[in-house]
This record gives sequence, structure tokens and C-alpha cells, in this order.
Amino acid sequence: MYSYKFAAARIIHKVCDSITVDELAGMMEYPPDPKMGDIAFPCFKLSKVLRKSPVMIADSFRDALVADEDAKAIFENIESVSGYLNLKVSVNALCEDVKAMLEKGASYGSSEVGAGKTIVIDYSSPNIAKPFHIGHLRSTVIGQSIKNIFKFSGYNCVGVNHLGDWGTQFGKLITAYKLWGNKEDIEARGIKALNEIYVKFHKVAEEQPELEDEARANFAKMEQGDEEALSLWKWFVDISINEFKKTYELIGADFESWRGESFYFDKTDAVVDELKAKDLLKFDDGAYIVPLDEYDMPPCLILKGDGSTIYATRDIAAAMFRKNTYDFEKCIYVTSAGQSLHFAQFFKVIGLMGHNWNEKLVHVPFGTVSFGGAKIATRTGNMILLEDIFEQAIEKTTQIIDAKNPDLADKENVAKAVGVGAIIFNDLSNNRIRDVDFDLEEALSFEGNTGPYVQYTYARCEGIIEKSGMDINADTLTLTDNAEIALIKVLNMFPEKVTQARNDLEPSVISRYLLDVCAAFNRFYHDCPVLKVEDEAVKNTRLALVGATANVLKNGLTLIGLKTPKNI
Ligand code: ARG
Repeated sequence: MYSYKFAAARIIHKVCDSITVDELAGMMEYPPDPKMGDIAFPCFKLSKVLRKSPVMIADSFRDALVADEDAKAIFENIESVSGYLNLKVSVNALCEDVKAMLEKGASYGSSEVGAGKTIVIDYSSPNIAKPFHIGHLRSTVIGQSIKNIFKFSGYNCVGVNHLGDWGTQFGKLITAYKLWGNKEDIEARGIKALNEIYVKFHKVAEEQPELEDEARANFAKMEQGDEEALSLWKWFVDISINEFKKTYELIGADFESWRGESFYFDKTDAVVDELKAKDLLKFDDGAYIVPLDEYDMPPCLILKGDGSTIYATRDIAAAMFRKNTYDFEKCIYVTSAGQSLHFAQFFKVIGLMGHNWNEKLVHVPFGTVSFGGAKIATRTGNMILLEDIFEQAIEKTTQIIDAKNPDLADKENVAKAVGVGAIIFNDLSNNRIRDVDFDLEEALSFEGNTGPYVQYTYARCEGIIEKSGMDINADTLTLTDNAEIALIKVLNMFPEKVTQARNDLEPSVISRYLLDVCAAFNRFYHDCPVLKVEDEAVKNTRLALVGATANVLKNGLTLIGLKTPKNI
């Protein structure tokens, strides 16, 4: 519908050129009550600037539109009511839209606004030798979706998996491995086995603090390039990445760069030198810091007493490297809200170094996941493992399919697509900053506001089209029912929703919108028989609407990372 706001704005701009077309379009609203039209311009917003009453402004805008040939073709009703300009989009224009939607197909909703611009998105970024936990799942799902949305808008996107593959914990792991490690066991059980010896290290070190010294020494060896230490580290990294890749495959995440923290180890000296040269580094309480009390933040720790670098130092080096390598328009970091301070601190430090591009660094925080209602049995007992959740989701979906549609072809893949999709959709269905309560039964329900419900609605559309045996032709449409018009108007919102999701870095805009599409489609399908209707023109029109709905659902689901099986 934005194209209509824009069309009206262009005409109004001719009589009101002190306000830009974009500003005019931005002032228009969608009235909650459809009786008032499709678009309303509350003219009081301009009365101060134009020094005229809202009624006079609305009247003059109406006159401009009524006199314009283009406007007459697009709007069937142009009214000035108590300082509001109300516009109703013509049925003809809506029919043209359906045609355009179908012609654009997979590109409907996309744009080129990002052409020539690069966005770096740092997401997922799990820690080596530690399980990929639910927080990383959220980061992966939200980050991947944000990346898809930017790509869809024409941006060049670099998804970075900033692996946690450097730091003192690797000294601990090497120490633990040397004491209790079993090569075959680690090769067989991977991260689980590594994590066990890591946890054991912490327990034993409570009684034997000298182990901590040994761990520090082992990490120092890594930083000094010791071959044995580095080859063990590399082995831990490879084992972990192999496992992470299985999860990424399942959820459809992919990365353009796998440069983790270790990549920046030899780039931190330059950061420290620059901080020193700019007199920002202070020695305090046994460590080098950048004080930030002037900005109401605790100091940013840069170097430990022993000279080893930390998370923040590597993040500063990484931001600089990315700026030099990609010259990004924005560098987005997707992590839990628990890390907000870390990002605020190192963004500030980069600014204090005189790099005003720190304004292009954006932290995208998200809330926690709780398992209040979920009955997820975990093999470890205390930690909710991702693979358990996926496994159970796929298993439960298989049971549902077995009951609903036992002869379904390709059942295994459909169960995977729907089970995994349910988890992704659940994660993206509220504003990301809100905490999520995860309830497997609820997420998998085909009737609730869920992924399976949207996927099922899509499959239903495809089923209707297939059953019709007809080719969709949207050249001439015959609209006969309000539910048809209401559906087109919802489908029309898709490009706008993509823009909103991109501007707010908020994939839930898309998931919630898809629920609106399903609701409008189901109302339409309830009121307007498609295959049973006699009149060929009406049948063809309705089929075109089913096709346009399928197209929007498919494009939207793809953006948020859900697969779209044609049969469920
Ligand atoms: N590895 C970190 C963690 O698991 C997340 C890294 C996020 N990205 C970054 N550049 N700091 O908490």
C-alpha cells in the first residue's frame, strides 16, 4: 500500500513543494476503520508549517488529487473530512497489483535500496568446545533472517561467524585434555566429551588452584605460537565446527566469513599501540583499561596484567578489520541483551580513538528463552541441548503427519521442515527483545499462531492451485467479494513490511505479518469458494488470489528461514 501513499504524495507535492514527497508519504496513515478509506492524511500535521487550518489543507489536497488524471485512475474516493484527506484505492488498481505481484514472483517484496552498500552481520558466533546453546540458536535465527532481509533489499551482505575460538579457556582445555583426555572418546562424542573435561577442570581446580597457573601457561604458549598447543587447539576447533555445521544445515544458516576471535590475535597489538598513542590506555588495579566513567560506564578492559588480550580487545580489532575490508554501511552484532554493556563499551572506545564510523556499529540484543511449559527431556539433565529440541520437534511433527496425512510423500523431509520451522518461527514471533517461553506443543500446533500453521496455509494454497489444473491468469480479474479486496490489501503490505523489518532490525515484523496474511486468506477462503464456483471469470480471479497469497507466504517464510513444502 505504500506505493499508493507515494503516488498520492507525488501529486500533493506539486501543490505543496515545501515538503518532500517522502515526508508527505510518511505522514499518511492506514485508518483502523476501513470505512474511512485505505489511506488517511491527518492534515493537522502540516497546519503549523503551512499556517493554514487542517480543513483548508485537506480541501486543497483533495482538489489537487481530483484534478489529476493519474489520481483518478488509482483512487475511487477522494474526500476531505474534518481536516483529514481520505483516499480509497480503486478496484482496478488493486487488480493491477495482483497481476504485478504474480509477475514478480520470487522477487515480489524485494528492492534495490541497498545497491552498492555492504552490511556486515556478526551472528551465531558460538564458542568452541562448548555446546551450541539456545542463546546461540536465537542469534543464528535472528541474524540469518536479518541478513536475508537486507539481501532481499539489494544490499551486499557479509555474514560473519565470530567464533569464540581464542582465550584463556583454551589453556584450560589443553590442561584438562592432557590430564584426562581420551582421543577416541573426543573423536566419537565431540563437543560433549570436550565440555565434560572442561567442566571437570573447573571442579578440580577449586581444590588444586595450581591448575589455573598451568592453564594460563598453556594459553600463553598458544599466544607464543607453540606448535603442540596450537595443534591441539586446532583439533578442538575442527571438531566443534563440524558439529556446528550440522546445526546450521538443519536451520539453513550460512556464513560468508568464519573469522573467529583467533583471527584477530595478531591484530590486537596495533589496537593497543593506537590506544597508547592516543593516551587512552590507563594502568589500573593490575590491568590496562580505557576509563569510561565520563560516559557512565565501567572501564573497558583491554589487557590483563600478564599482557594477554581479552574479548573486547579482539572485538575492537575485528571492527577495524571489517571497516577496512568491507567499508560497511552498518556492522550489526546479534547477541543476547546480557552483552549490551560490552558492545556499548567497545563502540565508545572506538569513538574515543577518533573513528567516527563507530556510529555504524549496531548491537541488536535479544531476550532470553525459558522452558516454563516445555517438557523437553535432556540427556544431560541440566542443560537444554539444541539437538534434543530439534529431535523432539521432528519426532512430534512426524507423529502429527502420521495422524493427519499418513501417505504423504517425502514425509521425513517435510517433518524436518515443519519441526525445525516451528522452532524458528516461535523464536521470531515476538519482538526480539522480549523473553521467549518455549513450549514445544504450542510451537508445533497447526492451529495456533505458529510456523506449521503458516506453512500449512501455504501448502493449502498450492494444493488448491494444483487441484484446479488451471494456469493462473491475472490479466483480467473480476472481484465480487469484500473478502477478496481485503486479502489483496493485506498482500499489498508485503514490501512495506520488508522495509519496516529492515529498518527496525526486527524479523518478527515479517512473522507477524505472515499471520495476518493467513488470517485474511482463511477469511477469503471461507467466504469465497474457489474451485466450486461456476463463473469461470470469478474462478480464475480467485485462483489468482490464491496464487498471489502462496507467493507472499513463500517469499515471507523464506526471509525468516522457513522451508515451504508444497504438501504437508
Ligand atoms: N562468542 C560470543 C558468545 O557466545 C558471542 C560473540 C558475538 N560477537 C562478537 N563480535 N562479540 O557469547
